[in-house]
Amino acid sequence: MKDDTRVPDYASVTKGQRETWSSGDFNEIARQNVEMAERLCNAVDPHPGQRVLDVACGSGTAALIAERRYCDVTGVDYVPELIERAETRARVNGQEIDFQVGDAQDMPFPDEDFDAVVSVYGVQFAPDQQRAARELIRVCKPGGTIGLAGPIPAGWSGDWFETHARYVPPPPGVPSPLRWGTSGGLDELLGAGTRSITSERRTTRQYYRSIDHAVDVFSTYFGPTIRALETLDAAGRARLRTDLEEVFDRYNLATDGTAIVENQYAQTIATRA
Ligand SMILES: C[S@@+](CC[C@H](N)C(=O)[O-])C[C@H]1O[C@@H](n2cnc3c(N)ncnc32)[C@H](O)[C@@H]1O
Repeated sequence: MKDDTRVPDYASVTKGQRETWSSGDFNEIARQNVEMAERLCNAVDPHPGQRVLDVACGSGTAALIAERRYCDVTGVDYVPELIERAETRARVNGQEIDFQVGDAQDMPFPDEDFDAVVSVYGVQFAPDQQRAARELIRVCKPGGTIGLAGPIPAGWSGDWFETHARYVPPPPGVPSPLRWGTSGGLDELLGAGTRSITSERRTTRQYYRSIDHAVDVFSTYFGPTIRALETLDAAGRARLRTDLEEVFDRYNLATDGTAIVENQYAQTIATRA
């Protein structure tokens, strides 16, 4: 009988995931996250001079937005190439942001360091979810705000992640990132260290030249899709591509041959106890 009660080897799962996110170039996908990051920043509402941390910041999308309020911003991600890209984006814009390479499950910051801690489709991917949640709480000041934008089981992103999971099953014992998009999951993860959690379902749109273009973008730049394609033979790759086209098609609002894909996600605001 299979022993499903074993604690997963989080270190090796994290290593594999870091390699996955290092492939491709998430910066090319990050344009789809700008609206979610803008809204999240408005909801968290950090004031000028406050310290803001963007966790699993990728190429820095939310960090760049928070800095426009003259906040004192730090971004952390475990992929050095994305941190370099974030630094370049900030430099080109003339923005000063402290970007650091680090793991969301073990962040290189002291306790109670930030007024606001945000993550856009980021911390949700850490395999040791309880530990990542404790880290969000630990580095946030008492009374500070934790703001998350992330996938939910419904809609495009739930569909998208489940389609990938059919081809590359998640490591045994590691809960789905979609847990952060359920009220039960949020209570389990953040309930103990916060005095309030509100989560609402929002929609955003992704724009592509066509469904084909959308699948090309993800096949070329999105680490998890690249990794899934690499594990398959030619027939499997063709099947995955068709499945991904169908996922985009299910949420496509455009009727002119382009793709305007509606995505539902959770925007969560928690107040640190
Ligand atoms: C979907 S991308 C989102 C990036 C960015 N937040 C944005 O909205 O553009 C997921 C990001 O999470 C990062 N990531 C995943 N797990 C992480 C972990 N355990 N520690 C640090 N970064 C992590 C990946 O490297 C990747 O940059």
